[in-house]
Amino acid sequence: MSGGLQADDLEQDTSLLGRTLRPQYLSQYIGQDKIKEQLDIFVQAAKLREESLDHVLLFGPPGLGKTTMAFVIANELGVAMKQTSGPAIEKAGDLVAILNELEAGDVLFIDEIHRLPMSVEEVLYSAMEDFYIDIMIGGADASRSVHLELPPFTLIGATTRAGMLSNPLRARFGINAHMAYYDEADLTEIVARTADIFEVEITGDGAHEIARRSRGTPRIANRLLKRVRDFAQIKGTGVVDDGITRQALKMLGVDASGLDYVDQKILKTMIEMYQGGPVGLGTLAVNISEERDTLEDMYEPYLIQSGFLIRTRQGRCATAKAYAHLGYDYPEHLSNGL
Ligand SMILES: Nc1ncnc2c1ncn2[C@@H]1O[C@H](COP(=O)(O)OP(=O)(O)OP(=O)(O)O)[C@@H](O)[C@H]1O
Ligand SMILES: [Mg+2]
Repeated sequence: MSGGLQADDLEQDTSLLGRTLRPQYLSQYIGQDKIKEQLDIFVQAAKLREESLDHVLLFGPPGLGKTTMAFVIANELGVAMKQTSGPAIEKAGDLVAILNELEAGDVLFIDEIHRLPMSVEEVLYSAMEDFYIDIMIGGADASRSVHLELPPFTLIGATTRAGMLSNPLRARFGINAHMAYYDEADLTEIVARTADIFEVEITGDGAHEIARRSRGTPRIANRLLKRVRDFAQIKGTGVVDDGITRQALKMLGVDASGLDYVDQKILKTMIEMYQGGPVGLGTLAVNISEERDTLEDMYEPYLIQSGFLIRTRQGRCATAKAYAHLGYDYPEHLSNGL
C-alpha cells in the first residue's frame, strides 16, 4: 500500500524483545501517574489484608499499555496471571475450564473483554461477585446444574471501548482505570528507555522528536524508534538525533504532528469529498478502505484528542486546525458557523 504506518503497526508485539521491553513493576511503568498511584494503594491494601485485589477494568485506545499494566499488577501482587481474550472464549465451558485452573489470588486477564459472547458473560457475573459458577451440563433431557466454588481471584479486563461493555459487567469491576494518551515528556522517557534496551545511541532531541510524533502512544513510539534506528544506521552515523529522525519519518509518511497516511487520508477525504463534514463513520470507512472498528478504535480517538476532528450528532467534521494542517483554506461558510 503506502509508505505510511499501517494498522498492523499497532499490533501486539510478542517477540522476546517486545516482552523485555515491558516494564515489570509500577515503579518502572512510565506515565499514567493517577492510575499508578491508585493501584499502588489498592495493591498494598489487598496484600496487607491477604485478600485478592478487586476486579480491574482497564480501558483506552490500543497500544497505551493495558496488557503491560495487567502484567505489572500481577507482579506487584506476587501472583500468577492467566491470559485470554474475549473472542477466544466461545462458550461458557471455555471460561469454566480457565476459571477452574485459577489458584487463590491469581489474576485472570481478559483482553478485548467487550467481545465476550453474552452466554459467557453471564457465567462471569457470579464468578466475579461471589466466586462461584452454576453451569448446566449434559444433554437436553439429562442436563443438570452443577455448582462450582472458585478461589478468590482478580479479573483484569481490558477494552478499547468502555461504552461497549454491558452495564451488569461494568458494574462488577471495583477499580476502573481510564488510560489516557501519554504526554510528550512521558513518551520521551519511554523512547529513551527503549533506546537503552536496544542499545541505540540517541540524543535528547532525537527522543523528543520521536515522542512528539507518536500520537501519544508508547507502541507507536517504540515502533518509530526501530525504524529511525534502521535509517540512522544505513543513512547516518547510527546515532538517532532530531535531524535523522525527521528524515526517517518523512520517508515513512509520518508528518510533523505524527499523523500517518491513514490519518491524513481520513481528514483529506472529509475535506475534499464532504466539504469538511458532517460525514458518517461508515461512509468514511468505505471511502478510505478501512474497517469501521479500526477507524473508531485506532484513528479517531487521537484525531479528536488533538483537535483535528470533532464528532457531532450528524457525523464527523474536520476542524479548522485540520484544514490548516493539511494546507487547505478553511471555507468561509464554516468559519461563519453556518
Ligand atoms: N508506560 C510504559 N512504559 C514503557 N513502555 C510501555 C509503557 N506502556 C506501554 N509500553 C510499551 O508499549 C507497547 C504496547 O503496550 P501494550 O501491549 O501493553 O499495549 P495495550 O494497551 O495492551 O495495547 P492493545 O490494546 O493494542 O492490546 C509494549 O511494547 C510496551 O512495552
Ligand atoms: Mg494489549
